[in-house]
This record gives sequence, C-alpha cells and structure tokens, in this order.
Amino acid sequence: MEHREEHSALGADEIAAFWAAQAEKHGLDPAASWSDWRAIELEIAAISHYVAPGMTILDAGCATGYSTVCFARPDGVRVLGIDYIEKMIDLAEQRRGSMPAEIAARLEFRVGDIRALDGIPEAAFDLVVTTRVLINLGTASEQREAIEALGQRVRPGGLLLLSEATVGGWQRLNALRREWGLPDIGVPSFNLYLEESAIVESAGDDFILENVENFASSYFVATRLLKPILAQAAAHDVDVADPNAEFNRWASLLPAAGDYGTQKLFVLRRR
Ligand SMILES: C[S@@+](CC[C@H](N)C(=O)[O-])C[C@H]1O[C@@H](n2cnc3c(N)ncnc32)[C@H](O)[C@@H]1O
Repeated sequence: MEHREEHSALGADEIAAFWAAQAEKHGLDPAASWSDWRAIELEIAAISHYVAPGMTILDAGCATGYSTVCFARPDGVRVLGIDYIEKMIDLAEQRRGSMPAEIAARLEFRVGDIRALDGIPEAAFDLVVTTRVLINLGTASEQREAIEALGQRVRPGGLLLLSEATVGGWQRLNALRREWGLPDIGVPSFNLYLEESAIVESAGDDFILENVENFASSYFVATRLLKPILAQAAAHDVDVADPNAEFNRWASLLPAAGDYGTQKLFVLRRR
C-alpha cells in the first residue's frame, strides 16, 4: 500500500510559480490547466449536468476560464471565476472578450485566493465548483479549511461540486496497472490528492453527499492501462499521454464504469 504524504512535495510558493509558468507557456490552450483536454471535456459534461438556467455560480480556481465559459452556456447563468494567478485571470478576461456579448456580460473574472474568501459573500451562490484546485493546496488542513470556506458560499439548498483527484481512485488505478506489470503513476509534485472521507467531513453537517461521479473511470482504464499495454504488445512507439490520439477519442466515448479514475466529482448539497 502506498504511503500518503500529508503535504505536497513542492511548497506553496513553488506551486504558485508552477501555475504562473503554465499560464505563460500555454496561454488560452486548455493545457494551461491539464494536458489531457479530453478528460477536461468529460469533467465539464459531468458538471454541466448540475447547471440550470438562471443559476449564480462561483468557479473557484478557474485558471484561464476554459471550463468557466461552458458553465455559463445555459440562459441567464452568471459565473464568477477566481484564480490566484494574475496571468490566468488576464487570459480568462481575454477569453471572455471573445465570447458572444450576451454570455460575456454574465461572466466575471477576479484575482482571488480560495484560502482567503473574505471578499466573497456567504450563502450567495446556487453552485460553487472546483475543478482540480484543492489538490494544489499543499497540506490536508488547508484543503479542509478551503472546503469549509467554499461550502459557506453556497446558499441553503445549493450545490458544492468538487471535481478533485482522490487517493482511493489513484490507488485502484495503480493496483490495476500492477496486475499487468506496469509501474505506478506518481502524484505530481505540485499536488496532494484528497481522501474521500476528508472531503465529506470537511464540508460538515450542513452538507449531504448526493453523488460521487467517477466520470473518467473508463477513460482512465483505457488510456492509462490498455493503451500502454497495447503499445508494448505492438512494440510501437506511441505517446500514451496524447489526448489527440484517435484511441483517446474512442476512450472518451465509453460510458463510465468502475472506480479507477483519479479524478471524480463529489456532489454535495447544502441543507
Ligand atoms: C488544474 S488547474 C484547474 C483550472 C480550472 N478549474 C479548469 O478546470 O481548467 C488549477 C488552478 O487552480 C489555481 N489555484 C491553485 N491554488 C489556488 C488558490 N489557493 N486560490 C485560487 N486559485 C488557485 C491555479 O492557479 C490553477 O489555475
């Protein structure tokens, strides 16, 4: 069994520097937030299921707004995106400027840190969402505090959606890989994966866990297990991480099954 560190390999300043560099390097390309854009699309689809016309949404850790603008598609939805990297917000503003005026008017981007949400009113949002953001907080206690603070921004009856990487999903995927002689996939140095139980506990008694969606489980098995095995068997020089590959397109069309995705969506409703 893997031993889980209670802090990320990199410190807070190094993690912020990593994200600033990602923004500089990738600009508006979705790779600024994750190299696997097909997995991002699966994530957007899973979250969009919970977005209804007229909702007010906080997208915490929005990067360049790639997913944020998708959440703003239904009529009348207003989205506030915050990120602690100025360059990410500059790019998000640029993206907003390229959207149809009617949608752009319903989007707002601001520099902001999820560890200091004082400027954002409590109980003001129908839906608060994070996508791969809490994993960038270097300690488990910071993650717990951030979940609590984000939960306070949700109105009673509203939703807290956390699409984050978990220790459990990561361990199950690696167990599957070991059965086939493949090495473990490591945790990136700038991440600390979350314990599922800690997510629910941190949200507190005000929240009910309505669903956990393993939206990328089949995609992960196909691209992180089958694809490397096939590449080995065919002795073919394949870039197994390439989301543009036809194989990855097929993998993204599979219905989600099992619990092997590192990434999953926690759906919590405020009482
Ligand atoms: C993996 S990206 C996800 C971006 C975006 N949610 C998406 O789906 O494309 C993580 C983002 O979280 C931001 N981030 C990390 N720690 C943060 C913090 N403490 N406060 C605000 N944003 C943070 C990073 O700058 C980065 O843009």
